[in-house]
Amino acid sequence: MTTPVHVTVTGAAGQIGYQLLFRIASGQLLGPHTPVVLRLLEIEPAMKALEGVVMELDDCAFPLLAGVEATSNLDVAFAGTSWALLVGSVPRKAGMERGDLLSINGGIFKPQGQAIARNAASDVRVLVVGNPCNTNCLIARTSAPDVPADRWFSMTRLDQNRAETQIAKRLGTSVSGVKNLAVWGNHSATQFPDFRNATVDGRPVPEAIDDEAWLTGAFLSTVQKRGAAIIEARGASSAASAANAAIDTVVGLTTPTPDDDCVSVSVTSHGEYGVPEGLTFGMPVRVDATGAWHVKEGFTRDEFSVEKIQVTTNELLAERDEVVKLGLV
Ligand code: NAD
Ligand code: LMR
Repeated sequence: MTTPVHVTVTGAAGQIGYQLLFRIASGQLLGPHTPVVLRLLEIEPAMKALEGVVMELDDCAFPLLAGVEATSNLDVAFAGTSWALLVGSVPRKAGMERGDLLSINGGIFKPQGQAIARNAASDVRVLVVGNPCNTNCLIARTSAPDVPADRWFSMTRLDQNRAETQIAKRLGTSVSGVKNLAVWGNHSATQFPDFRNATVDGRPVPEAIDDEAWLTGAFLSTVQKRGAAIIEARGASSAASAANAAIDTVVGLTTPTPDDDCVSVSVTSHGEYGVPEGLTFGMPVRVDATGAWHVKEGFTRDEFSVEKIQVTTNELLAERDEVVKLGLV
């Protein structure tokens, strides 16, 4: 029997939690041969709802689910965990930007980072989903200086998936032909989904879609503002697609990346592509045959991309200044 891997999900009784847990327990996160123990964190008022979710997990009789620990205690939640998916936090409402959540949610991530440092397995990797996810990731990482910087990620995969679909729909082709779609910067309305370096069915996207006005206009703003459009339509923020992107992120980070593709995820900058060091910044990543990840090289930038990436960089620098002022880093 393979030793089970412990996976922590915070905010487990929330919308995304409800879409995520069953997929993890069925083997979609770590594969069909890896048993998992789910470690589910909630705040006290949501423990009753979490109890119901655990009953439903039981009732699925998932063969790979080796155990469930439901708790409101940070040390219990992160004990021995190898993957910590930090979802729990407040979502924005219509009319807000994700950055408006910093003062509400930021305080959650410092104690969680500290608890990860105290309790997690030595191979722990952390994916922050709760918004504003890039800067929340920076807060958690800064609170756990002994956990190497290359283990901390925040989620820009949903933006990659959104961008790929917009391109495929525009061409009436399959989304599986869209490759190398990097999302630079912040998971916010300033992000830059990099259509210039992306390909579709082996051709550069700007060649396949010979419509610069659409690429720099409607395409860009649709992807940048997709989260707000979903809130407007549903009256609640994305959940199933967010859970799906969390699964895609972990699968992407644990599977070798084909040469013609990349995984979009926010990682700790070491100055790659001139990004200021220490920011959690959306970049294209590739995983090699040994399982190690690297920022993928060779992406080109023109004047338009440079300008867009500067805007999202400035926003992340301002968010970092804000959390310094709040005493969170
Ligand atoms: P939700 O309100 O449905 O659920 C959040 C859950 O977190 C609740 O059950 C709440 O009790 C719990 N929670 C709150 N504070 C907590 C804490 N300190 N510790 C543990 N649990 C806590 O929200 P949701 O729709 O699941 O969204 C969760 C977060 O994910 C939001 O911040 C949302 O903006 C973000 N999000 C990010 C992306 C992305 O692409 N990065 C996509 C969608 C949503
Ligand atoms: C999304 O992109 O759907 C999420 O980040 C939720 C939001 O606030 O937009």
